[in-house]
Amino acid sequence: MQKILIILLLLLCSQAKAQPIQWKEQYPGVWKGTFGQPEKYTLLSAADSKPRAATLEQLQSTDFPFPKMEVHAELIDGKTYVRMPLTKNEQIYGLGLNFQTVHQRGKILNLHVDHYGGKDNGRTHAPVPFYVSSKGYGVLVNSAQYLTYYVGTGVRKDAKEPAEPKDRNTDKSWNSRPYSDAVEIYIPAAGVEIYVFAGINPLDAIKRYNLFCGGGTLPPRWGLGFTQRVQKLYTAQEVLNEAAQFEEHGFPLDFIGLEPGWQSRAYPCTFEWDKGRFPDPAALIKKLATKGIRLNLWTNPYISPEAGISKAIEPYTGSHTVWNGTVPDLNHPEAKKILAKQFMDAQLNIGVSGYKMDEVDGYDYYLWPDMAKFPSGISGIQMRQTYGVLAQKLTDSLYRNQNKRTYGLVRASNAGANNLPYVIYNDYYSHQDFITALVNSGFCGVLWTPEVRGSKTGQEWLRRFQSVVFSPMAMINAWSSGTKPWSFPEVADQVKYYAQLRMELMPYLYSEFAKYHFDGTPPFRAMVLEEGFQGQAKAVAGNQDLETNPYLEAVNREVKDQYMCGEYILVAPLFAGESSRKVLLPKGNWYDFYTGKYVGNGEEIVANPDMDRIPVYVKDGGIIPMMGSRLHTPLPNEKVDLTIRHYGEKEGNYQLYDDDGVSFDYEKGSYVWRRVLVKKDEKGSLSGEMSKPQPGKPNTFGRVQFEFMTK
Ligand code: GAL
Repeated sequence: MQKILIILLLLLCSQAKAQPIQWKEQYPGVWKGTFGQPEKYTLLSAADSKPRAATLEQLQSTDFPFPKMEVHAELIDGKTYVRMPLTKNEQIYGLGLNFQTVHQRGKILNLHVDHYGGKDNGRTHAPVPFYVSSKGYGVLVNSAQYLTYYVGTGVRKDAKEPAEPKDRNTDKSWNSRPYSDAVEIYIPAAGVEIYVFAGINPLDAIKRYNLFCGGGTLPPRWGLGFTQRVQKLYTAQEVLNEAAQFEEHGFPLDFIGLEPGWQSRAYPCTFEWDKGRFPDPAALIKKLATKGIRLNLWTNPYISPEAGISKAIEPYTGSHTVWNGTVPDLNHPEAKKILAKQFMDAQLNIGVSGYKMDEVDGYDYYLWPDMAKFPSGISGIQMRQTYGVLAQKLTDSLYRNQNKRTYGLVRASNAGANNLPYVIYNDYYSHQDFITALVNSGFCGVLWTPEVRGSKTGQEWLRRFQSVVFSPMAMINAWSSGTKPWSFPEVADQVKYYAQLRMELMPYLYSEFAKYHFDGTPPFRAMVLEEGFQGQAKAVAGNQDLETNPYLEAVNREVKDQYMCGEYILVAPLFAGESSRKVLLPKGNWYDFYTGKYVGNGEEIVANPDMDRIPVYVKDGGIIPMMGSRLHTPLPNEKVDLTIRHYGEKEGNYQLYDDDGVSFDYEKGSYVWRRVLVKKDEKGSLSGEMSKPQPGKPNTFGRVQFEFMTK
């Protein structure tokens, strides 16, 4: 008896030191690891997304991507410390919406929801704790705490492959940051859930992550049209005038965004219309609808004492205020109910199409401090990390209840929000960094718009406009400047060409979003995810040996100014002041989007377009279904004629997606993939065909013609 007790005691003691992580395969290539006592409130519980189980079940099984025993977890002072293996030549991507760097190896990041302060230090609008390895796996830490990542920086005494100490005085290869073989993660909680996603390559791991989080969002078709956010304090009449001006100028417009001024009070907000500026909002929305234009509303969630709901919601608000307004506990059912009713009564029921949820990210100076308390019991920190997701969730659910899709903007997000119809934006304005954010968005299951606000010159205006057209939301945010697409007459025609091109590309873009939803492929993504791309960047002079110089690699080979848009299109933006740039092409033949001419194969080319063009290329065999240019998205039951472009020499195929474009009926099977094939006959000439419509399935396509771009 005594012996048994001693053994039990010994067992208990040994468990208290270092417990193994319990791994369980949830889907092929998706493992959940549990360590200690994970918290109940997590990023995934806040987002509450349901995995696309049927799709995941069908995926190829893969081995766990590294020996399980190489993952180490222990409790230190009640906090969790996790170490993941990292090998030589392995690169790490992701860890949130970074703006300046794509390679994360060698960085220390403190993942914290915040506005972007100009440094990639982990404080950003979507500090998603998911990283992707160039070796083809991904790791998600499902915790709503502030997490610290040491991405290949710390070197332990017991490192598996320790680097040799060197003499700094005599050895030129001495490095202040020697080789590290681990990603170390510090989680301020007494346990954690970790998910590992393995795939055949990095993109496959990302796809599994997206599918696990419900699949990417599928916006309504109109969400992919053009949107203008008007100046603050606009009146209903000014909104109508602006819509009329778009029509007169022949510029596409699908939705208008109202900025501060539509509410009776803002910062904090009432969520009620200002009766002076908007005496009859229902009539305004109706009038706009007859012109094919929808209305989106800016707001922040902080409640003015003058709001009608202020008293009722007060018990369900946090301990601190923001701009002297109360902070609704968006995790509390009563707070959600009161807000939902206000949104429904005053906005959704009269046809408002969506929201721009502002200020849910930061600044520390005006948001609640970490010690703030919320009635639902979650901490100030957990609220900060998930507030943007909760705001998205609340508004999206109202549209879901009406079987209507929405598409809006938000300034904070996190893991698990992959299927929520929101695009992140911010107040920062570096065009270059906006493109890097677009590249990074594809690593972490979020969408980002490099919005256009104003510009010093017509050239800058055009360059910015061109790249926003190849992004998840084609938007001018003129809340401060009042700038219109045609404000710079010297480039107005070129700007119009790109606004129209955005509309023409809708069948392609919509299909690419459908792939994001159904198979998890991000519509906008980094070049390194493209087959035949990795490692092609020209080596620069200097020590390229990763072992002795791991950090040089992180900087030198980073490709952060060009990206993939959907299956076949490569976009290489030009920035103001530039007339040419280098573009790195993956292996395979590539063709100019505008002319169909061959441009190169697996090499660095110099793009010398004139001012009018943004360099865009298409892969050999690429198929781009396009429609005629128009001012507004087609109605749900309208048929549009297609011109299907083919590029290059190769035969090609494409899955073209179709549904009603506005409802959630696709979730019940009301959608169809139309197969497009381009074939070559014995003489080498190409011809195209599209599969027939399926009885009982949506069919919004009219006549189809093929255009073979490469002559
Ligand atoms: C900012 C937001 C801008 C604009 C502005 C209006 O917080 O980022 O896009 O909406 O508020 O005051």
